[in-house]
Amino acid sequence: MKTGIIGSGSMGSGIAQVAATAGHEVLLYDNNPDALKRAQAQLEKILARLVEKGKMKPKESDEIFGRVTFVDSMYAYKDAGLVIEAIVENLDVKKGVFEQVEDIVPHDCILATNTSSLSIASIASACKDPSRMIGIHFFNPAPLMKLVEVIPAVQTSPETRKRSNELIQSWGKTTVTAKDTPGFIVNRVARPFYGEALRILEEGLADAATIDWAMAEIGGFRMGPFTLMDYIGHDVNYTVTETVFQAFYYDPRYKPSFTQKRLMEAGYLGRKTGRGFYDYREGAQNPAPAKDKKLGEQIVWRILVMLINEAADALYLNIASREDIELAMTKGVNYPKGLLQWADEKGINHCVATLDRLYGEYLEDRYRCSPLLRKMAREGKRFF
Ligand SMILES: NC(=O)c1ccc[n+]([C@@H]2O[C@H](COP(=O)([O-])OP(=O)(O)OC[C@H]3O[C@@H](n4cnc5c(N)ncnc54)[C@H](O)[C@@H]3O)[C@@H](O)[C@H]2O)c1
Repeated sequence: MKTGIIGSGSMGSGIAQVAATAGHEVLLYDNNPDALKRAQAQLEKILARLVEKGKMKPKESDEIFGRVTFVDSMYAYKDAGLVIEAIVENLDVKKGVFEQVEDIVPHDCILATNTSSLSIASIASACKDPSRMIGIHFFNPAPLMKLVEVIPAVQTSPETRKRSNELIQSWGKTTVTAKDTPGFIVNRVARPFYGEALRILEEGLADAATIDWAMAEIGGFRMGPFTLMDYIGHDVNYTVTETVFQAFYYDPRYKPSFTQKRLMEAGYLGRKTGRGFYDYREGAQNPAPAKDKKLGEQIVWRILVMLINEAADALYLNIASREDIELAMTKGVNYPKGLLQWADEKGINHCVATLDRLYGEYLEDRYRCSPLLRKMAREGKRFF
């Protein structure tokens, strides 16, 4: 089956590599010829590196590269079975592209968008047959990240949903199904990892290095929140938070932070610009964490309970199943444990009591406890 990919940026070229590695013929298109050339050179380089490291035979790498055709028009998609769009995150531009591509592809071709933040229903509304439109959300870098969120829109047919899941699983990915709501699963549930850490920093309870130390050493997370935000880039990370906040009709739970906004405005975007919360310039000295175990435990629990609350609320509102929420957070952002399992281990009563204490102290809606947690505590239930 031929797979068409629109947009050869970081996501499009990564998805192309995944599909070609799974044996599909890929047609990669970009309306910017330079971007397409860059993608071609980059794919060659990545495959060569895999051969060098002994992860792939030269023949295999040649075959994968040979399965990707870099095309200068979407007319090449006339016999595609699946088209995935990974272009600029702009609703009108995306709608325009689907309007065009729908007239080119066969009537049973699945049309998918890799959008991170736009509503699938609104993109699908551009199509004459929106039942074949679906969200297929890969994570960056697509070849390495196991998780893919599949997001049916209200218009999506059960057939499109089933075929999309089977196809993406046959590419060696783990799929989870999410409701068409802002941030889907991962980008919604993970917000407090950044937001609550920023809040703790702003309140002056601890500095970035100490919070990062606590989350990595005590919490078991692969990276502390500030290191991770510096790595992702503040332009990207702040924009996701702001988009989610706006899309939730300004729910205070997702309120962005001025501290992060100022870094973005200053051009301190993180690793890629040499400065963010930390200084990455040559010879720079960064502050050491205060390795205070008691403080560290308080920090971890405050961030963790906010993450648990978010995961519980996503379950409460049927954004995804219990199993998919756990999979999404362990495979999409590599959390050391599923948040709902973590809630069970910490005790649902303890979670509710902490959230209520925070709410009582700040009187901010941000700390409101999910009705599901409260009900479970009352009934003595566990998630698993
Ligand atoms: N970068 C991430 O971490 C990430 C993760 C998941 C999803 N996404 C989503 O994937 C999509 C692409 O993101 P990216 O980071 O790869 O962006 P990118 O800027 O790296 O690449 C986008 C590419 O699309 C091309 N393009 C723009 N308009 C086009 C059009 N009308 N027709 C054809 N090509 C066009 C651009 O030339 C560019 O090469 C976005 O919707 C984004 O939200 C990004």
